[in-house]
Amino acid sequence: MDIFIPYLFLFLLLPFSLYLILFFHKEDSDDPKNLPPGTNGWPILGENVNLGLLGLSKFIRGRMEKYSPDVFRTSLLGEKVAVFCGAQGNKIIFTNDGKLVTPWLPLSLKKVLVPDLDDSSSYKEGFDVFNKFKYDTLKPEALRQYIPVMDAMARVHLRDDGWKPHFAVKVQPLINKYTFELSCRLFFNVTDPEKLQTLSGPFGPMRNGLMSLPIDLPWTAFGRGLKAGNIVRAEMTKIVEARREEMMRKGRGEDRDMLSKMLEVKDEEGKFISVKKIVNLFVGLLVASFDSTASATNAMVFYLAEYPHVYEEVLKEQMAIAKSKAPGENLTWEDVDKMKYSWNVAREVLRLVPTTPGTFKEAMTDISFAGFTIPKGMKTFWTPHSSHLNPEYFPEPEKFDPSRFEGSGPAPYTYVPFGGGARMCPGRVYAKLAILVLMHNLVTKFRFKKVIPHEKMVVEFSASPSHGLHLHLYPH
Ligand code: HEM
Repeated sequence: MDIFIPYLFLFLLLPFSLYLILFFHKEDSDDPKNLPPGTNGWPILGENVNLGLLGLSKFIRGRMEKYSPDVFRTSLLGEKVAVFCGAQGNKIIFTNDGKLVTPWLPLSLKKVLVPDLDDSSSYKEGFDVFNKFKYDTLKPEALRQYIPVMDAMARVHLRDDGWKPHFAVKVQPLINKYTFELSCRLFFNVTDPEKLQTLSGPFGPMRNGLMSLPIDLPWTAFGRGLKAGNIVRAEMTKIVEARREEMMRKGRGEDRDMLSKMLEVKDEEGKFISVKKIVNLFVGLLVASFDSTASATNAMVFYLAEYPHVYEEVLKEQMAIAKSKAPGENLTWEDVDKMKYSWNVAREVLRLVPTTPGTFKEAMTDISFAGFTIPKGMKTFWTPHSSHLNPEYFPEPEKFDPSRFEGSGPAPYTYVPFGGGARMCPGRVYAKLAILVLMHNLVTKFRFKKVIPHEKMVVEFSASPSHGLHLHLYPH
């Protein structure tokens, strides 16, 4: 709804828009021929209102039925967009990064997140710095050392942060807090509650500004996002500068976090990466990791509460692992590797409620697809919502069934919660570890039952429980 509200404001404030709406709403006669079928929606508003009202999943599936199951045209965030759908649509986007399509960020996201990256060359430069770093730091071999840290943090969190047996708790804020703190610990070793607060306070409004109409006023999501983004970057700058100074004084020291690794990276000219670029990188990582992982973890708990037989299977698997450990011994990579059924449950959760909506790209050249032409420069969008509930790919798609992932699993390009190809989410192993380590601790400590039986998972742009997920907790 965040993207919808500012548009509504504009609609109410400008009588001019009424004029436009009444006299110019027609089927886009100025568009070139052979575009994919669809509509640009209302002037100025595009189809943002429809998207806000329907939620992404219904919006996408409704238009696939009405226009084409392969590709349709719409207008979102002020841009004409071709939405590529289904396995073939996903495939053409994922296998043509840098050939047919290139990443594209909506203006609001660029301004709030990286205001100094204005043209495409500096945008590319930002990506290059990031590319050097991401696969080294987020690959499994690098992440395995953090599993004991994750496990210890999960235990402390469940002990100290409001998870009380025999009580009803609201789970969503607890999991969100834990997920944010985990990132701050693993990315740059910030654990002090006051410092965490200086980051988490402005982080919320910054996120809300990322996908908003770019109107910079004090009360708009965008205006608030810009301000909050500056605060987050200023706080991150202090953290990065202090660490660089400490490393110069004391030498490299132990491998505490990803920041120490980033501070050692050099560019092509052999120079260390600037503080500003490192700050942009970590703010980007926080944004990319937080919502998607927190939302997936919340959804996982939701479905365990919804389906007691699934909970029992997960419990069996997790108890066997717990029993194989000495008291107080932390989980290891090998333990997580044994969590096969639990991971299939998480994968099924991400099929039913993908926690990242998909991404925008830009056509680098005219693209021919499914008999239509997507002209150079047009924005494109792919989304897991176009394939995850398709009965051709997933029989009885509404049924919660982790066994879909046994054996060879879903057909290529049908199951895409982390995207695919060159741009596939580099944080997917981190996300897997974060979800499974918390789940191990939660399930082996508590049984749980929904307080509000009719509570649902709601998918707007991301996925969240409709009432914040109230659960009764019981000890074993
Ligand atoms: C359940 C959790 C997560 C989901 C569902 C998810 C999903 C995605 C998706 C769909 C993309 C876009 C891929 C594309 O454009 O083709 C993406 C990109 C990205 N994700 Fe994740 N993600 C998750 C967690 C994380 C975490 C934990 C991190 C970091 C630690 C992370 C870092 C990134 C980054 C940096 C990108 C941009 C990659 C690029 O453009 O090259 N994500 N993610």
